[in-house]
Formats: sequence, structure tokens, C-alpha cells
Amino acid sequence: MADIIYHPIGVIRSPFTDPQGMPIQPSSAAGARGYILLDDSYAAGLKDLDGFSHAILLYHFHKAKEVRMKVVPFLDQHERGVFATRAPCRPNPIGLSVVRLFSIEGTRIEIENIDVLDGTPLLDIKPYVPEFDTPAVCRIGWIEQSRHRAVLQKADGRFTDDKIGQ
Ligand SMILES: C[S@@+](CC[C@H](N)C(=O)[O-])C[C@H]1O[C@@H](n2cnc3c(N)ncnc32)[C@H](O)[C@@H]1O
Repeated sequence: MADIIYHPIGVIRSPFTDPQGMPIQPSSAAGARGYILLDDSYAAGLKDLDGFSHAILLYHFHKAKEVRMKVVPFLDQHERGVFATRAPCRPNPIGLSVVRLFSIEGTRIEIENIDVLDGTPLLDIKPYVPEFDTPAVCRIGWIEQSRHRAVLQKADGRFTDDKIGQ
């Protein structure tokens, strides 16, 4: 299959410069503020986004390390297939975060609940719409079993060298 080339549309600025100790999902990043700087050439595409409280960000895990098909996620103690996790070590290191939108001034978009490193290249922005994005009923696989021990807030010792960012 032919290669696909995407170009960043902007950059995500966040308080996080180290993958260790930072939130692992927006749900554990309450209060973590940051902003998007969109390239000027895409400014017109922001029209009407201010009517939404949340947006889906798609971005490139630019600091991802080697690709691995099996990982032990932070929320678990068992090896899982990478496609059953949110780990960055994917064949195409694309991240997805639902963030809260605060304000849009020109091409600067203030956001909250971010779980991405500072300087992460942004690939796309989509409005979050519960009717589109939240199934009424769903199963959550291995996460259901590990829920009772899930500590979603940052926690000392959560990362080891071989579990960073999973
Ligand atoms: C488990 S991933 C989840 C990201 C996203 N919410 C998702 O589901 O795709 C979040 C972790 O990825 C790591 N991370 C964040 N931004 C990154 C980047 N730009 N490059 C590499 N790793 C990153 C951090 O360790 C962070 O805690």
C-alpha cells in the first residue's frame, strides 16, 4: 500500500515535558491547561468551533519509542495487544484526546484536560458530539477487569522504563 503523508496543522502546548508522571488520559488530567497554536493557513476552519464545549484532538506521538505489538498497560498487569490499548508505541503513533475548549482567539485555542507532551504536532480537530461518539452500550474488555485498581491520576512509580506512556 502507498505511504500516506500528513502534515501537522499546528502544535499543542502543554505543561508536560516529561512522559513520566503526566496524566495518561484526559479523564485524569482535570485542570491541566494548555493551548493549540494552529497554523494561520487553517484559521478559517475554526469557524463555529466555539459552539462546542469539547473537541477531539488527533495528534502525532512525536516522542514515541519503538513500535511494539504487545504491551503491559499502566492500568493492567497483563500483556495486551497494542490495538487493545492506548499506548503510544503503535505502528502509526496517532493519539486521540477529548479536551475541553475554553476560548478561541485567532488561531490560539485554549484547552483543558490535556494528556499530551508539550510540542506535540497536531493532525486534526473535530467537535466532540456525544450522539456520534458515545455508544449507549459498550464493553471495555480488559479495562473492566482492572477498573478496581485503576488509579487514573498521576502516581509515583506508575511508569517503569518498559511501560512509559501505556
Ligand atoms: C496512554 S497515552 C493516551 C493518549 C491519548 N489520550 C490516546 O488515547 O491516544 C498518554 C501518554 O502518552 C505519553 N505521551 C503524551 N504525548 C506524547 C508524545 N507527543 N509522544 C510520545 N508520548 C507521549 C505520555 O506518557 C502520556 O501519559
